[in-house]
Amino acid sequence: MTSQELRQKFIEFFEAKGHILVPSSSLLPKDDPSVLLTTAGMQQFKPYFVGLKDPQVELGGRQAISIQKCFRTADIDDVGDDTHLTFFEMLGNFSFGDYFKTEAIQFAWEFLTTVAGISASCLSATYYNGNRPGTTADIEAKLALDKLDGLNQVSAQPDAENFWGPTGTEGPCGPTVEFHVNGVEVWNLVFNEFYCHPDGKLSPLPVRGVDTGMGLERLSVAVNQLPNIFATDVFKPLMDKLGSLTPRAQRIVADHIRGAVFLLGDHVRPSNKEQGYILRRILRRVLMHIHGSGVRLEDLINTVIDLFGPVYLDLTQNRESINQFARTEADKFSRTIDAGEKELAKLIANGTPRLSGAEAFKLFASYGLPIDFIKEKIPVDESEFDRAFVEHQSISRAGVEKKFGGHGLSAGAAIDPAEQIQITKLHTATHLLHAALREVLGAEVHQAGSDINPERTRFDFNFPRKLIPDEIQRIEAWVNDKISTGFSVKHETLPYAQAIAAGAVAFFKEKYPAQVDVYTIYNEDTGKVISQELCGGPHVTNSHDLGTFRITKEESSSAGVRRIKAVLE
Ligand code: ALA
Repeated sequence: MTSQELRQKFIEFFEAKGHILVPSSSLLPKDDPSVLLTTAGMQQFKPYFVGLKDPQVELGGRQAISIQKCFRTADIDDVGDDTHLTFFEMLGNFSFGDYFKTEAIQFAWEFLTTVAGISASCLSATYYNGNRPGTTADIEAKLALDKLDGLNQVSAQPDAENFWGPTGTEGPCGPTVEFHVNGVEVWNLVFNEFYCHPDGKLSPLPVRGVDTGMGLERLSVAVNQLPNIFATDVFKPLMDKLGSLTPRAQRIVADHIRGAVFLLGDHVRPSNKEQGYILRRILRRVLMHIHGSGVRLEDLINTVIDLFGPVYLDLTQNRESINQFARTEADKFSRTIDAGEKELAKLIANGTPRLSGAEAFKLFASYGLPIDFIKEKIPVDESEFDRAFVEHQSISRAGVEKKFGGHGLSAGAAIDPAEQIQITKLHTATHLLHAALREVLGAEVHQAGSDINPERTRFDFNFPRKLIPDEIQRIEAWVNDKISTGFSVKHETLPYAQAIAAGAVAFFKEKYPAQVDVYTIYNEDTGKVISQELCGGPHVTNSHDLGTFRITKEESSSAGVRRIKAVLE
């Protein structure tokens, strides 16, 4: 059965049972600040579950279905296996105060065994065991499952498996029943009966309801008895274009290009912030994998649009802008890669038979050159590279994890090159900010802490009062002046005493080793030094690469300590 037949049969089945078809909402959630992107079909229906809106008035009924575009960053590290995707289509049926567990379980069973034609002997189900305080085992669900004729296996599971929601910090949630085909979860039935408060406490929902989600790709695997999701017809034409890549790269590229096209179609634009940053990362990952392979970005984009345009009409309408924004991003990325390749070519031309880990790490940190890419051209001391990498990763990770809830985008083994470059730039910008503060507020200002993630730098410093707007402006102007003039950044390793004697500012209070890294920002023509600090780096080699510096926040951090957050645009 084709994916289009499956979509159609799902709609017909539930329409015949009185459900109203609601179009997919955008991947950019409209009124739901709890998540960056739409991760589930229920999000657009939240007001009905919490009683804020009446589905009878809004939809004309209390039963609905949708085929929802979803994007889950939490699954990004699993992409490449047989079952996980970032972007996927979720088929779902919903009840807002209408039918409940027993009917929902019967509907799902009927659809899977009769419409989809999946043999009962391949099917198993799980239900909730009631381990969470204030809840009980879901006996109603168990009784309904026990009545299903031929269901292979039924087991009770704790809340980690069989309790869903809320999205974000609060909202509707409840116990679930999961249907598995040959051990792979295919359909999740959520019985929303609680509201979860920010402190984790549950209270009963005013309107009990049903929220289900079934991945179209996994359903297609089950129905057509395929080995994995990439063998389904929603992927086949894409995979056919990627034959020159390694099998894992093929899967990553196929998944990410679909996600990127759909995000662009919903008017997300590459940036260093939030949704735009997710788009930038997956797009750059695609670019990295296809670099030098002969696979053309445009070709992949148009394949996705041709595949899904008949179902998601706006993709076809937006074909031009999708291509255009992707192209701009690709050009930006290739300029970075090109600069890195030039640096690498220089090192090779010097006659080095082998790169030290530090040299390779610098190419990676400053230009975003992936280690695999470097290794293709010249041998590298990899264990030294790994050490530098891990050391640096532990510095930059904390902030990233906060942003993405400790999930997916940050948890992978590899730092994304785009992310790495932004961190490198922000390191240098932070030294400039430190120098600007001393210039504008007085030389007694010194650093009290700092934290850099790919989006911003956060800098704490001792100062007794709030900054006035004029001071903030002067600080920004000072930094931007140094950026546009283009100051060089020099790295030296010096004995500690010599560095301090030369006037270098020590960032941290901890004991320094005998030899220290010193970064000096200076004017190449006049020799004038504007910043000299002890720091592990990495830094850009010239400040003109940084973009525009802007302070986004100035606030109190603790007694006598102010905190500035700033970005590069
Ligand atoms: N909202 C449920 C899920 O996303 C169905 O799994």
